[in-house]
Amino acid sequence: MIYVVGMTIERTPVENWATDFDHVDPAWSKDPYPIWDELRTTCPMAHSERYGGTWLPTTHELVHAIAYDTENYTSRGVIVSPEQPEAPAPVGPAPPITSDPPFHQIARRLLLPAFAPKAIERWRPYTVELCARLLDDIEAKVAAGEPVDAAIDYTQHIPVGVIAGMLGLPEEDGPTFRGFIHRIIEDIGEHGNEVAEEDSIDAYLDAAIEAHLADPQDNLLEYLLNVEIEGMKLQPEHVRGTVILLIIAGIDTTWSAIGSMLWHLAQHPDDTRRLVADPGLRPMAIEEFLRAYGPVTMARIVAKDHEQGGRQLTAGDWVLLPFPAANRDPAEFEDADRVIIDRKVNRHSAFGLGIHRCIGSNLARMEMAVALDTWLDRFGSAFSLSDPDAVTWSSGQVRGPRSMPMVIGA
Ligand code: HEM
Repeated sequence: MIYVVGMTIERTPVENWATDFDHVDPAWSKDPYPIWDELRTTCPMAHSERYGGTWLPTTHELVHAIAYDTENYTSRGVIVSPEQPEAPAPVGPAPPITSDPPFHQIARRLLLPAFAPKAIERWRPYTVELCARLLDDIEAKVAAGEPVDAAIDYTQHIPVGVIAGMLGLPEEDGPTFRGFIHRIIEDIGEHGNEVAEEDSIDAYLDAAIEAHLADPQDNLLEYLLNVEIEGMKLQPEHVRGTVILLIIAGIDTTWSAIGSMLWHLAQHPDDTRRLVADPGLRPMAIEEFLRAYGPVTMARIVAKDHEQGGRQLTAGDWVLLPFPAANRDPAEFEDADRVIIDRKVNRHSAFGLGIHRCIGSNLARMEMAVALDTWLDRFGSAFSLSDPDAVTWSSGQVRGPRSMPMVIGA
């Protein structure tokens, strides 16, 4: 298993965020913004002994500096866990996100054509049809007087369908993918992350690749199995690692971003009414939702002992890269804590900074736009949270609503 660690850790509640933070603490999952705001002014480079030693920069300046520094930091590990990945740099277990230069650029370049704007446009009609189908089911629930959950009934299905389609994997395997994601990035050390070999993502992909080889189709999996670097096909571990990356990076992130967007609108009817009345405002609003509720915090491992933000970092330490905290830094954004759906200047870092900047941003934006248009065109502004306290959030490095009961039509 690639990210799996065989260790169960004792989790104690955080008492001091500057010296003992834990990014899977329930308080962080529920509302991390006050934690980051306070650290930014009191201890911008916080440290915790957890996971063998982890750093947390909270200013835009520090996050930016670390994301661009591939000398002092390696991407060999991007998900903080009690044990570090064994696959060595520069390739790492899930290229290109776990690759360092110079290999990183080669692994990244291979993927770019599949995620270019034109290639993504091909998936728009499918996404429109999928969102409409999900909303038909939601309307049927409303008509039957059944409760609706916008995360469970809507947001979680959208990115699964698209990435499964791109890779030629069955859309119905969505629950299986979400199970892998939960184990790999949410359940860190919680239950030892142990899983029977036959239930592992590796076993799933081995079977999928075998099925594909028996009946090849024109899709991204076929491309990865045949593309060459300097006349040689990719190693099987490279193909598998990249497909795992695309499943994880493609699903959890966008599902979270769409969810946070609807969570905001369900509580801010004035914003919703403006977007219903003026669809031209929606692309700008999507950028603001990405800034304000950026879902993705990545990590690095310190490659060399050095000083950063006035602290002494040691090779082997983990460093969280909270792009969402950088997006709320008042030194970088005016009224950083306010959601301004027509914010004029918005150079947010929700998609990362530096060489690992998100490859899937065109796809993510297309899915967010279709999900928003379809929802608003169907329900207008007639939706709200049934109970804001009933909303649950994912824990760990990708943050978004996982259950979001809604009243529709009220
Ligand atoms: C709103 C949705 C998304 C957000 C907020 C997001 C965010 C990010 C961030 C912050 C990074 C940088 C990681 C780092 O510095 O270590 C990243 C990288 C990446 N993302 Fe996304 N992502 C999203 C959607 C997607 C989608 C839909 C895909 C494709 C299926 C995708 C594929 C990737 C890949 C392959 C990388 C690695 C790029 C590299 O290492 O060069 N992402 N993403």
